[in-house]
Amino acid sequence: MAAFRVTTPIYYVNAKPHLGHAYTTIVADAVARWHRLLGDDVHLLTGTDEHGLKIQQAADAKGVSPKEFVDSIAPLFAEAWERLDIAHDDFIRTTEARHVAGVKALLQACHDAGDIELDTYRGQYCVACEAYLLPDDIVDGKCPVHRTEPQQVEETNYFFRLSRFGDRLLEWYAAHPDAIKPAHRMNEVLGFIRGGLDDFSVSRTSLDWGIPLPWDPDHVAYVWFDALANYVTAHGYGTDDAGFRGKWPVDYHFIGKDIIRFHCVYWPAMLMSAGLEPPRGWAVGGWLLVGGEKMSKTTGNVVNPLDLVDEVSVDGFRYYVLADTAYGNDGDFTHEGLLARYNSDLANNLGNLLSRVATVVGSKCGGIGPAPLPGSPLADAAARAVEDAAAAWEAVQPSRALEATWSLIRAANANLEVNEPWKMEPGPELDAVMGGALEVLRIVAILASPAMPRTCAEILRRIGIDRPVHEARIGRDTAWGGYPGGLAVTKGDPLFPRKKA
Ligand code: MSP
Repeated sequence: MAAFRVTTPIYYVNAKPHLGHAYTTIVADAVARWHRLLGDDVHLLTGTDEHGLKIQQAADAKGVSPKEFVDSIAPLFAEAWERLDIAHDDFIRTTEARHVAGVKALLQACHDAGDIELDTYRGQYCVACEAYLLPDDIVDGKCPVHRTEPQQVEETNYFFRLSRFGDRLLEWYAAHPDAIKPAHRMNEVLGFIRGGLDDFSVSRTSLDWGIPLPWDPDHVAYVWFDALANYVTAHGYGTDDAGFRGKWPVDYHFIGKDIIRFHCVYWPAMLMSAGLEPPRGWAVGGWLLVGGEKMSKTTGNVVNPLDLVDEVSVDGFRYYVLADTAYGNDGDFTHEGLLARYNSDLANNLGNLLSRVATVVGSKCGGIGPAPLPGSPLADAAARAVEDAAAAWEAVQPSRALEATWSLIRAANANLEVNEPWKMEPGPELDAVMGGALEVLRIVAILASPAMPRTCAEILRRIGIDRPVHEARIGRDTAWGGYPGGLAVTKGDPLFPRKKA
């Protein structure tokens, strides 16, 4: 069994989860679910980033201790992922003992390698980024992402000698040219490295909300060093090294484009210093924009994903975020766009196919679904949809995978419109048309299940198949002819009642 291990970013707990967090997590979850359908041994890791100045300031503003504060927010992420049907295998909080021990081990390994040394640095610090901005990054005196003024900071503390890793990173990327998806992001990373790498500070004395350095406990670890380490501490680094060795490197870190420098430059260098392999890959997403701006607490244009779930159902929401934006590009969230896609793709295309089939089977086939025939005109369309969807999921392009899946739904609806089975007499011709449509529903339910697990389970149930959809396997169960026929087909409420736009 092939292993497929992936991670989401760990989210700052300075505020409750928003649509941008949900987006990255749903993409990772859907890709993980696809790999479960391939039969892979999947592990999806997510969690929360709980140390650092930004959290300390958020706690101060509420007048509570940082620990009380993070304990009040972290569960909101776990609850949101539960409502969004995120099937993660682990949820790590950076305040957990296993993480604290692992971060200390990683710091010590880099220190032992001679790559962490005391030094002094002056620069412009953006608290929202938890990072120094490079002079070229600053636009009109402000952080280009958060539109806030950075603070001038000078500190003497421990620095990670990133400047020593340029050649090793370039060599590693030359040997792993497909490691970053989509491919154009690789150029951005190579550009950062070729532009020259500055050392970065890995400790703070100006705050105590963090993990003390093992060799100098007056300093706490810089929050990004602490946070990146979650990807190894969750797998046992520093607490179960034997177990860890079998689980690292992971296949993908799913990240947003805002954190590419940390993930694709700092992180592999930290791992190399500690004698560990870089991850196998990174899948870099764009931003969901609201009113043309990245959604963030600092920008103030936050959309609560759970309000949207209340409106269009969990699967309606998951489908929208996966289908509407090509992963890697920026997407524009609008409420009209959400409803338009819901009505056209879900209520009209998919919902209609199921309800027409159930109605005709009920009225003309005695409620018993006929088996598909081998020569059905839909068999080729199904084979193409399976192949295209598989290639798209492999390339971490859920929108393309869903487009391939919906082309099969459209073909099946068109086939019904040509044959008009609702006007046909019961008999072998009608059975052939309905068998083909049922077979499409069965295959679509498997192909679309990474995006819409609940709906797809319900589709299978209504066409008489009892087996849980997650037990299906691409290949074995997506070949034409798998619907056995002779099963009771049930007509229920519309899967996706139309919404007023
Ligand atoms: N805590 C750090 C990540 C540490 S990972 C070792 C962090 N947290 S964050 O909560 O601010 O954002 C994390 C990620 O959420 C972003 O990189 C991105 O993947 C996702 N998004 C946050 N806002 C987003 C949008 N508006 N649109 C799309 N994704 C966004 O950075």
